[in-house]
Amino acid sequence: MVKVAIVYWSGSGNTEAMAQAVEEGAKSAGAETTLTFVSDTNAADTAEFDHIVLGCPAMGNEELEEYEFEPFFAELLPKLKGKVVGIFGSYAWNQGDWILTWKKRLEDAGVELVAEPVKAYSYPDDEALEACKELGKTVANA
Ligand SMILES: Cc1cc2nc3c(=O)[nH]c(=O)nc-3n(C[C@H](O)[C@H](O)[C@H](O)COP(=O)(O)O)c2cc1C
Repeated sequence: MVKVAIVYWSGSGNTEAMAQAVEEGAKSAGAETTLTFVSDTNAADTAEFDHIVLGCPAMGNEELEEYEFEPFFAELLPKLKGKVVGIFGSYAWNQGDWILTWKKRLEDAGVELVAEPVKAYSYPDDEALEACKELGKTVANA
């Protein structure tokens, strides 16, 4: 059975709701899942998985959350090549540029995303939650 790790950071719950929808999608595709707040895991444990979905909202100035998610991601990034990877997150102040920068960091490290990043404005609406479920399914089926 495919095992999908979903690791996220969320300050006010918006990205967490997305993470739960990603998990629902992956489960519906028959995958075994782990859904973990980033501070409850680490890069080494996450890298044990071949199917990984990462969630983080836009923080700082179009950046990943700097204290917990960024150090985790920086350590994980060199271990992601060849894996099935997806990313998602919520934003509210600007246009969502942080996820483009995040995607580029992955591509520059030779990591090919299995699907386009999923972003949601503030709390994910039905369309965004559906996109998160699709992301979970795609990662599980890849
Ligand atoms: C400290 C801080 C910095 C933020 N920086 C940005 C930003 O650069 N761009 C943006 O679009 N939204 C920014 N936001 C808004 C959050 O991305 C938005 O509220 C998001 O929905 C929070 O997701 P969460 O509920 O998962 O924490 C920021 C919010 C906070 C609290």
